[in-house]
Amino acid sequence: MSNILLSTTNKILTLTINRPDKLNALNHQTLVEINQAISNAQTDKTIAVIIITGSGQKSFIAGADISELAQSNAVTGMFFAEYGQKVMNNIEQSCKPVIAAINGFALGGGCELAMSCHMRIASDNAMFGQPEIKLGVIPGFGGTQRLVRLIGKGRAMEMNLMGGMIDANRAYEIGLVNKVTSQDELLTTVEKMAKQLTLSAPVALQCIIDSINHGAECSLPEGLQFEAKAFAVTCSTHDMKEGTKAFLEKRKANFIGE
Ligand code: COA
Repeated sequence: MSNILLSTTNKILTLTINRPDKLNALNHQTLVEINQAISNAQTDKTIAVIIITGSGQKSFIAGADISELAQSNAVTGMFFAEYGQKVMNNIEQSCKPVIAAINGFALGGGCELAMSCHMRIASDNAMFGQPEIKLGVIPGFGGTQRLVRLIGKGRAMEMNLMGGMIDANRAYEIGLVNKVTSQDELLTTVEKMAKQLTLSAPVALQCIIDSINHGAECSLPEGLQFEAKAFAVTCSTHDMKEGTKAFLEKRKANFIGE
Protein backbone atom coordinates (compact mmCIF):
# COMPACT_ATOMS: atom_id res chain seq x y z
CA MET A 1 0.00 0.00 0.00
CA SER A 2 1.80 3.18 -1.10
CA ASN A 3 -1.05 5.72 -1.14
CA ILE A 4 -3.03 4.80 1.96
CA LEU A 5 -2.16 4.23 5.62
CA LEU A 6 -3.86 1.52 7.67
CA SER A 7 -3.92 1.22 11.43
CA THR A 8 -6.11 -0.93 13.65
CA THR A 9 -6.74 -0.18 17.33
CA ASN A 10 -9.44 -1.74 19.49
CA LYS A 11 -11.21 -3.27 16.44
CA ILE A 12 -11.31 0.10 14.64
CA LEU A 13 -9.52 0.25 11.28
CA THR A 14 -8.48 3.76 10.28
CA LEU A 15 -7.83 4.08 6.55
CA THR A 16 -6.05 7.34 5.73
CA ILE A 17 -5.72 8.47 2.12
CA ASN A 18 -2.11 9.59 2.08
CA ARG A 19 -1.29 11.86 -0.85
CA PRO A 20 -1.28 15.18 1.01
CA ASP A 21 0.82 16.95 -1.64
CA LYS A 22 -2.03 16.23 -4.10
CA LEU A 23 -4.72 16.95 -1.49
CA ASN A 24 -5.36 13.18 -1.38
CA ALA A 25 -6.69 13.07 -4.95
CA LEU A 26 -7.81 9.62 -6.06
CA ASN A 27 -5.60 8.19 -8.77
CA HIS A 28 -6.19 4.65 -10.01
CA GLN A 29 -3.60 3.13 -7.67
CA THR A 30 -5.23 4.79 -4.64
CA LEU A 31 -8.63 3.41 -5.64
CA VAL A 32 -7.13 -0.07 -5.97
CA GLU A 33 -5.59 0.19 -2.50
CA ILE A 34 -8.82 1.46 -0.90
CA ASN A 35 -10.76 -1.36 -2.52
CA GLN A 36 -8.25 -3.95 -1.31
CA ALA A 37 -8.30 -2.60 2.25
CA ILE A 38 -12.11 -2.53 2.42
CA SER A 39 -12.34 -6.06 0.99
CA ASN A 40 -9.73 -7.41 3.42
CA ALA A 41 -11.56 -5.80 6.37
CA GLN A 42 -14.76 -7.71 5.59
CA THR A 43 -13.32 -11.02 6.73
CA ASP A 44 -10.82 -9.73 9.28
CA LYS A 45 -12.09 -10.65 12.74
CA THR A 46 -9.86 -8.03 14.38
CA ILE A 47 -11.85 -5.25 12.63
CA ALA A 48 -15.41 -4.23 13.55
CA VAL A 49 -15.63 -0.65 12.24
CA ILE A 50 -13.84 1.33 9.53
CA ILE A 51 -12.97 5.04 9.59
CA ILE A 52 -11.90 6.72 6.35
CA THR A 53 -10.08 10.06 6.53
CA GLY A 54 -7.51 12.13 4.66
CA SER A 55 -3.91 12.93 5.48
CA GLY A 56 -2.99 16.49 6.49
CA GLN A 57 -5.03 19.42 7.79
CA LYS A 58 -6.50 20.64 4.53
CA SER A 59 -8.17 17.92 2.55
CA PHE A 60 -10.21 14.75 2.89
CA ILE A 61 -10.07 13.97 -0.85
CA ALA A 62 -9.92 16.69 -3.55
CA GLY A 63 -11.48 14.42 -6.18
CA ALA A 64 -10.25 12.16 -8.89
CA ASP A 65 -6.66 12.82 -9.92
CA ILE A 66 -6.98 15.44 -12.65
CA SER A 67 -3.59 14.63 -14.21
CA GLU A 68 -4.86 11.06 -14.85
CA LEU A 69 -8.29 12.31 -15.89
CA ALA A 70 -6.66 14.57 -18.48
CA GLN A 71 -5.36 11.48 -20.32
CA SER A 72 -8.80 9.81 -20.53
CA ASN A 73 -10.72 8.90 -23.64
CA ALA A 74 -14.19 7.38 -23.88
CA VAL A 75 -12.88 3.84 -23.38
CA THR A 76 -10.59 4.52 -20.41
CA GLY A 77 -13.13 6.98 -18.96
CA MET A 78 -15.77 4.25 -18.91
CA PHE A 79 -13.36 1.87 -17.19
CA PHE A 80 -12.31 4.52 -14.64
CA ALA A 81 -15.91 5.44 -13.76
CA GLU A 82 -16.98 1.79 -13.49
CA TYR A 83 -13.99 0.90 -11.34
CA GLY A 84 -14.56 3.92 -9.08
CA GLN A 85 -18.23 2.97 -8.76
CA LYS A 86 -17.21 -0.56 -7.82
CA VAL A 87 -15.01 0.82 -5.02
CA MET A 88 -17.80 3.12 -3.77
CA ASN A 89 -20.29 0.22 -3.87
CA ASN A 90 -17.83 -1.93 -1.93
CA ILE A 91 -17.70 0.74 0.79
CA GLU A 92 -21.48 1.22 0.83
CA GLN A 93 -22.10 -2.53 1.02
CA SER A 94 -19.45 -3.13 3.70
CA CYS A 95 -20.84 -5.48 6.35
CA LYS A 96 -18.94 -3.41 8.92
CA PRO A 97 -19.96 0.22 9.51
CA VAL A 98 -17.86 2.78 7.64
CA ILE A 99 -17.62 6.36 8.96
CA ALA A 100 -16.09 9.18 6.91
CA ALA A 101 -14.08 11.63 9.04
CA ILE A 102 -14.08 14.55 6.61
CA ASN A 103 -11.16 16.78 7.53
CA GLY A 104 -11.19 19.31 4.67
CA PHE A 105 -11.99 19.36 0.95
CA ALA A 106 -14.42 16.63 -0.11
CA LEU A 107 -14.71 17.45 -3.79
CA GLY A 108 -15.73 15.33 -6.77
CA GLY A 109 -14.68 11.76 -6.01
CA GLY A 110 -14.07 12.86 -2.40
CA CYS A 111 -17.69 13.91 -1.96
CA GLU A 112 -18.71 10.69 -3.75
CA LEU A 113 -16.57 8.51 -1.50
CA ALA A 114 -17.94 10.26 1.59
CA MET A 115 -21.48 9.64 0.32
CA SER A 116 -20.80 5.92 -0.01
CA CYS A 117 -19.85 5.74 3.69
CA HIS A 118 -22.59 4.88 6.19
CA MET A 119 -22.12 8.05 8.24
CA ARG A 120 -20.29 11.31 7.59
CA ILE A 121 -18.77 13.53 10.28
CA ALA A 122 -17.12 16.76 9.09
CA SER A 123 -14.75 19.23 10.71
CA ASP A 124 -15.78 22.86 10.44
CA ASN A 125 -13.18 23.58 7.73
CA ALA A 126 -14.63 20.92 5.38
CA MET A 127 -15.89 21.99 1.96
CA PHE A 128 -18.08 19.88 -0.30
CA GLY A 129 -18.75 20.03 -4.01
CA GLN A 130 -19.12 18.29 -7.35
CA PRO A 131 -16.94 20.63 -9.45
CA GLU A 132 -16.56 18.25 -12.42
CA ILE A 133 -18.62 20.56 -14.66
CA LYS A 134 -15.74 23.05 -14.46
CA LEU A 135 -13.49 20.42 -16.08
CA GLY A 136 -15.99 19.69 -18.83
CA VAL A 137 -16.99 16.32 -17.38
CA ILE A 138 -19.57 14.99 -14.97
CA PRO A 139 -19.22 12.98 -11.74
CA GLY A 140 -18.48 9.34 -12.47
CA PHE A 141 -18.44 7.69 -9.04
CA GLY A 142 -22.10 8.25 -8.13
CA GLY A 143 -22.24 12.04 -7.71
CA THR A 144 -25.35 12.42 -9.86
CA GLN A 145 -26.98 9.45 -8.10
CA ARG A 146 -26.16 9.26 -4.37
CA LEU A 147 -26.36 13.06 -3.94
CA VAL A 148 -30.01 13.06 -5.14
CA ARG A 149 -30.86 10.35 -2.66
CA LEU A 150 -29.18 12.20 0.21
CA ILE A 151 -30.16 15.83 -0.34
CA GLY A 152 -32.95 15.80 -2.96
CA LYS A 153 -33.16 16.55 -6.67
CA GLY A 154 -33.12 20.37 -6.63
CA ARG A 155 -30.05 20.68 -4.42
CA ALA A 156 -28.23 17.86 -6.26
CA MET A 157 -28.95 19.63 -9.55
CA GLU A 158 -27.53 22.87 -8.16
CA MET A 159 -24.35 21.29 -6.80
CA ASN A 160 -23.72 19.38 -10.04
CA LEU A 161 -24.73 22.09 -12.53
CA MET A 162 -23.17 25.07 -10.76
CA GLY A 163 -20.10 23.19 -9.52
CA GLY A 164 -19.75 25.42 -6.44
CA MET A 165 -18.70 24.44 -2.93
CA ILE A 166 -20.72 24.37 0.28
CA ASP A 167 -19.25 24.51 3.77
CA ALA A 168 -19.68 21.98 6.55
CA ASN A 169 -22.55 23.80 8.26
CA ARG A 170 -24.52 24.01 5.01
CA ALA A 171 -23.75 20.33 4.38
CA TYR A 172 -25.21 19.58 7.82
CA GLU A 173 -28.32 21.72 7.17
CA ILE A 174 -29.13 19.81 3.98
CA GLY A 175 -28.40 16.36 5.41
CA LEU A 176 -25.16 15.70 3.57
CA VAL A 177 -23.29 15.16 6.86
CA ASN A 178 -24.45 13.79 10.21
CA LYS A 179 -22.45 16.10 12.45
CA VAL A 180 -19.95 18.97 12.38
CA THR A 181 -17.09 19.27 14.88
CA SER A 182 -14.08 21.50 15.37
CA GLN A 183 -10.94 20.35 13.55
CA ASP A 184 -9.38 19.29 16.87
CA GLU A 185 -12.36 17.17 17.87
CA LEU A 186 -13.02 15.40 14.56
CA LEU A 187 -11.11 12.18 15.12
CA THR A 188 -12.01 11.82 18.78
CA THR A 189 -15.70 12.29 17.91
CA VAL A 190 -15.55 9.70 15.15
CA GLU A 191 -13.52 7.29 17.29
CA LYS A 192 -16.10 7.60 20.08
CA MET A 193 -18.87 6.67 17.63
CA ALA A 194 -16.74 3.83 16.27
CA LYS A 195 -16.09 2.53 19.78
CA GLN A 196 -19.83 2.37 20.48
CA LEU A 197 -20.26 0.37 17.27
CA THR A 198 -17.51 -2.08 18.29
CA LEU A 199 -19.62 -2.92 21.35
CA SER A 200 -22.82 -3.49 19.32
CA ALA A 201 -24.04 -6.79 17.92
CA PRO A 202 -22.25 -7.25 14.56
CA VAL A 203 -24.98 -9.29 12.85
CA ALA A 204 -27.57 -6.66 13.78
CA LEU A 205 -25.31 -3.88 12.48
CA GLN A 206 -24.91 -5.72 9.20
CA CYS A 207 -28.67 -6.32 8.96
CA ILE A 208 -29.32 -2.59 9.48
CA ILE A 209 -26.82 -1.65 6.75
CA ASP A 210 -28.29 -4.22 4.33
CA SER A 211 -31.90 -3.26 5.10
CA ILE A 212 -31.33 0.47 4.65
CA ASN A 213 -29.22 -0.01 1.50
CA HIS A 214 -31.82 -2.35 0.01
CA GLY A 215 -34.83 -0.35 1.16
CA ALA A 216 -33.50 2.89 -0.29
CA GLU A 217 -33.69 1.34 -3.77
CA CYS A 218 -37.01 -0.54 -3.76
CA SER A 219 -40.71 -0.16 -3.01
CA LEU A 220 -41.88 0.13 0.61
CA PRO A 221 -43.56 -3.33 0.64
CA GLU A 222 -40.40 -4.94 -0.76
CA GLY A 223 -38.22 -3.04 1.73
CA LEU A 224 -40.44 -4.06 4.63
CA GLN A 225 -40.30 -7.69 3.52
CA PHE A 226 -36.50 -7.47 3.41
CA GLU A 227 -36.50 -5.90 6.88
CA ALA A 228 -38.71 -8.69 8.30
CA LYS A 229 -36.31 -11.33 6.97
CA ALA A 230 -33.29 -9.44 8.34
CA PHE A 231 -35.09 -9.10 11.69
CA ALA A 232 -35.65 -12.87 11.66
CA VAL A 233 -31.93 -13.40 11.11
CA THR A 234 -31.10 -11.29 14.17
CA CYS A 235 -33.65 -13.27 16.21
CA SER A 236 -31.67 -16.42 15.51
CA THR A 237 -28.43 -15.07 17.00
CA HIS A 238 -26.76 -15.67 20.34
CA ASP A 239 -26.40 -11.88 20.58
CA MET A 240 -30.19 -11.42 20.50
CA LYS A 241 -30.51 -13.82 23.44
CA GLU A 242 -27.71 -12.00 25.24
CA GLY A 243 -29.07 -8.50 24.51
CA THR A 244 -32.58 -9.25 25.74
CA LYS A 245 -31.31 -11.22 28.75
CA ALA A 246 -28.92 -8.42 29.72
CA PHE A 247 -31.77 -5.88 29.59
CA LEU A 248 -33.95 -8.03 31.83
CA GLU A 249 -31.04 -8.60 34.25
CA LYS A 250 -30.30 -4.83 34.24
CA ARG A 251 -26.70 -5.22 33.06
CA LYS A 252 -24.67 -4.36 29.97
CA ALA A 253 -24.81 -6.87 27.14
CA ASN A 254 -21.67 -8.65 26.08
CA PHE A 255 -22.07 -9.34 22.36
CA ILE A 256 -19.87 -11.95 20.70
CA GLY A 257 -20.89 -11.64 17.03
CA GLU A 258 -22.78 -14.90 16.73
N1 COA B 1 -6.13 16.00 -8.87
C1 COA B 1 -4.80 16.14 -8.95
N2 COA B 1 -4.11 17.04 -8.25
C2 COA B 1 -4.80 17.83 -7.43
C3 COA B 1 -6.19 17.75 -7.29
C4 COA B 1 -6.86 16.78 -8.06
N3 COA B 1 -8.18 16.60 -7.97
N4 COA B 1 -6.60 18.70 -6.42
C5 COA B 1 -5.48 19.33 -6.01
N5 COA B 1 -4.40 18.81 -6.62
C6 COA B 1 -3.00 19.21 -6.46
C7 COA B 1 -2.69 20.55 -7.15
O1 COA B 1 -2.44 20.35 -8.52
C8 COA B 1 -1.49 20.97 -6.38
O2 COA B 1 -0.37 20.23 -6.85
P1 COA B 1 1.04 20.96 -7.16
O3 COA B 1 1.47 21.54 -5.84
O4 COA B 1 1.93 19.85 -7.62
O5 COA B 1 0.75 22.01 -8.18
C9 COA B 1 -1.77 20.50 -4.97
O6 COA B 1 -2.73 19.47 -5.10
C10 COA B 1 -2.35 21.57 -4.07
O7 COA B 1 -3.50 22.09 -4.70
P2 COA B 1 -3.74 23.67 -4.92
O8 COA B 1 -4.71 23.82 -6.04
O9 COA B 1 -2.45 24.38 -5.04
O10 COA B 1 -4.42 24.06 -3.53
P3 COA B 1 -5.42 25.26 -3.25
O11 COA B 1 -5.56 25.34 -1.78
O12 COA B 1 -5.00 26.48 -3.99
O13 COA B 1 -6.83 24.79 -3.87
C11 COA B 1 -8.62 23.23 -4.30
C12 COA B 1 -7.50 23.70 -3.33
C13 COA B 1 -9.20 21.94 -3.72
C14 COA B 1 -9.71 24.30 -4.35
C15 COA B 1 -8.02 23.00 -5.70
O14 COA B 1 -6.85 22.19 -5.57
C16 COA B 1 -8.97 22.32 -6.64
O15 COA B 1 -9.86 22.97 -7.16
N6 COA B 1 -8.73 21.02 -6.92
C17 COA B 1 -9.51 20.28 -7.88
C18 COA B 1 -10.87 19.90 -7.35
C19 COA B 1 -11.66 19.17 -8.40
O16 COA B 1 -11.97 19.71 -9.45
N7 COA B 1 -12.00 17.91 -8.12
C20 COA B 1 -12.76 17.09 -9.00
C21 COA B 1 -11.87 16.31 -9.89
S1 COA B 1 -12.79 15.31 -11.04
